[in-house]
Amino acid sequence: MDNKLMLMIPGPTPVPEAVLLAMAKHPMGHRTKEFEAIFAECTQDLKWLHQTSHDVLSLAVSGTGAMEAGIINFLSAGDRVLVGDNGKFGERWAEVALAYGLNAEIIKAEWGQPLDSEQFREKLEADTDKQIKAVILVHSETSTGVLNDLETINRHVKAHGEALIMVDAVTSLGATSIPVDEWGIDVVASGSQKAYMMPPGLGFVAVSPKAWVAYKTAKLPRYYLDLGKYSKNAAKNTTPFTPPVNMFFGLQASLQMMKAEGLENVFARHKRLKETTRTAVKALGLPLFAADSAASPAITAVMPPAQLDAQKVRTLMKKRFDIALADGQDHLKGKIFRIGHLGFVCDRDILAAISALEVVLRELGYEGFTPGAGIAAAAKFLAESQS
Ligand SMILES: Cc1ncc(COP(=O)(O)O)c(C=O)c1O
Repeated sequence: MDNKLMLMIPGPTPVPEAVLLAMAKHPMGHRTKEFEAIFAECTQDLKWLHQTSHDVLSLAVSGTGAMEAGIINFLSAGDRVLVGDNGKFGERWAEVALAYGLNAEIIKAEWGQPLDSEQFREKLEADTDKQIKAVILVHSETSTGVLNDLETINRHVKAHGEALIMVDAVTSLGATSIPVDEWGIDVVASGSQKAYMMPPGLGFVAVSPKAWVAYKTAKLPRYYLDLGKYSKNAAKNTTPFTPPVNMFFGLQASLQMMKAEGLENVFARHKRLKETTRTAVKALGLPLFAADSAASPAITAVMPPAQLDAQKVRTLMKKRFDIALADGQDHLKGKIFRIGHLGFVCDRDILAAISALEVVLRELGYEGFTPGAGIAAAAKFLAESQS
């Protein structure tokens, strides 16, 4: 049947009708009072979502553009930085840092394992002459479904006192609590096509007062991504360049939806979706790639039954049920499949995906579970989580 695509990938994520309809309007001039009012509301609500009273800047970029903006606005070539790398997007941070000539020391962990906060502590404590300018990491590592322990690593950064902390929160912002001001996170990058329930096209960067101090002496070249320009203009409810105005119509609607649901309820929903998915997958006898103690609220990576290529599971899920799951990335291609459960996703979507997965696994000849075991576990978990 046409037009029943169900996106269960970790971005782009499904977009609610209210957001789609808000975007389906004629564009308006961006230097008008009307647009300024929409922009002002979005900026206020972005601060609410980030739990900050400081700048949250909107850029016409994807998540990587927001990450790059973080690097070029607050650092200089040759600066010593620590970069956490336990997956595809940690690797990307390192690539961006190296592309701009930073002296990046990479702290690695195996794909599927969380970053070891102790390694950060040791390096930061040893840096008595305060040469480390920034600690840079991914919060929710989308390639593996691991949630890094941002709170603990940040505590070590705060004990150091000088270094900034820069976080790729592309699949964690809006899926789990990041109290930006309370923790003192300096730079937070995210993108519209994830928990924001929007199409791809907007990137967001939250900036702390401490990062603005670093901005004054940072020497990397910047123009379109010069965050100072965005901040100055945002104070007047406008943007330095033509913004994607229709995306702001959508952002206004999506943030209104999140506010109506309530921040704590949004986080609780993502936690429930994660736990339901993991409970059901375990009941099917399939190993999870990340441990429960370090599981992302946004995405669950699953290992297929032995001898079965994950690609076959994904292909049949798409063909039989029009449910899109994500492949593994790089060396994990075909070795894992990833179930996205962030943004406009509800309990019903998980029940549908698990039921479909049972059928697909059966059709592919996997008999390691009693039919209905996954869905029974999910139903039980959901029922009990309501009581
Ligand atoms: C954790 C993380 N960081 C960065 C990105 C890159 O975002 P984009 O593809 O929007 O540039 C992604 C995209 O999936 C991501 O999941």
